[in-house]
Amino acid sequence: MDLSFLNQAKNFLEYKLATQHESSVVGVDIGSSSIKVVQIKNDKGVAVLDTYGEIALGPYSESAVGQATNLTAEKLAEALTTLMEEAKVTSHLCGVSIPFSASLVKLIEVPAVDQDKLKTVVPIEARKYIPVPMNEVQLDYFIVPETEQKLFMGARSPEEAESTQLESRMALVVAMHNETLRKYARTLELAKMRPGFYELEVFSNIRATVSRSLAPVAIIDLGAATSKLYLVELGIILASHVVPSGSQDITRSLASSSHMSIAKAEEIKRQAGILSGSQNDDATRVSHAATLTMEQIFVEARRVLMGFQKKYNKVITKVILTGGGATLKGLPEFARQQLELEIEIANPFSLVQAPAFMEETLRQAGPEFCTAIGLALRQLGENEA
Ligand SMILES: Nc1ncnc2c1ncn2[C@@H]1O[C@H](COP(=O)(O)OP(=O)(O)OP(=O)(O)O)[C@@H](O)[C@H]1O
Ligand SMILES: [Mg+2]
Repeated sequence: MDLSFLNQAKNFLEYKLATQHESSVVGVDIGSSSIKVVQIKNDKGVAVLDTYGEIALGPYSESAVGQATNLTAEKLAEALTTLMEEAKVTSHLCGVSIPFSASLVKLIEVPAVDQDKLKTVVPIEARKYIPVPMNEVQLDYFIVPETEQKLFMGARSPEEAESTQLESRMALVVAMHNETLRKYARTLELAKMRPGFYELEVFSNIRATVSRSLAPVAIIDLGAATSKLYLVELGIILASHVVPSGSQDITRSLASSSHMSIAKAEEIKRQAGILSGSQNDDATRVSHAATLTMEQIFVEARRVLMGFQKKYNKVITKVILTGGGATLKGLPEFARQQLELEIEIANPFSLVQAPAFMEETLRQAGPEFCTAIGLALRQLGENEA
């Protein structure tokens, strides 16, 4: 029997698989409590989900799932390699996030000089805001386009913006610690990944949530040890704030008040959530611990939001919750009561195509994967450019 046709078909399949892998890209988010990866590909102009996955770092640090860690590049690479195998990641080309804590982001004002002069003025001005020696950081800046700045300052339409004159220009200054960049580069190298770029997690988060929103919105990233608050308008970060509490604090206070292990407390926290609907003892304890932690975070977030609204004479239209902490059951209602604002739980997988039967699973996992999806989307765009 002539098998050449079958062989040809097989070759064709292998070819398809090979090109498919090459055109796929990965987003790698190395968080303090877990690493998240998302692999996507471009299919006729549509971003399609290949695979995604997460690995807890606690167990690599003699700690528990859900707890923040500070691991070496070697340990991080070990975890990342395991995750890539488990999630069946096939592409090595990736975008990588840098934690907000290893950075400085500031919106500065500079004299309104012409575009060429701005390119020399901004870096000089930016240096004044960096509290560490310049050789310890990578400095980057972004000059807010004129029209965006005018719209931000109150122009009601691009036409109205056209006719106004700017007295000063705004620039977003970003500095990242070299030490962190080096550690991440080493991690990726050991895990045999090929980073296309590194970016601050806030930018990936914005891309995965509000990049198309024109009105001012707040993003609250509820991580393990800290919660980060970003105020964004027209895709520009106007202000940011870090609250030194996160979802791991719920687990810790539950473990100590109920005399149980951190691992057990984490399990119960994920089952029960913040609103104690049932009369079950565990649920009531979780609700109590979660209320204590989340109240602390939202009281501070509210204070920062109010201060911002007053300073810029703006009204925040909604708050988007991201991060693993945002998957806590009952949190949207609780946040709504605390902040008295419209609350949305991030659903970043809605930006990629996936089988319909996965919709609910992806919606639930979404908040944790915002950064990884934002990274993968940028890398996919850069691949095509
Ligand atoms: N289903 C769930 N219900 C409640 N909490 C959860 C759930 N899943 C994860 N968490 C909590 O989310 C936290 C981790 O969130 P996330 O993965 O966003 O943090 P991270 O990225 O590692 O931290 P960071 O961004 O601060 O470095 C953990 O403390 C964990 O307990
Ligand atoms: Mg995170």
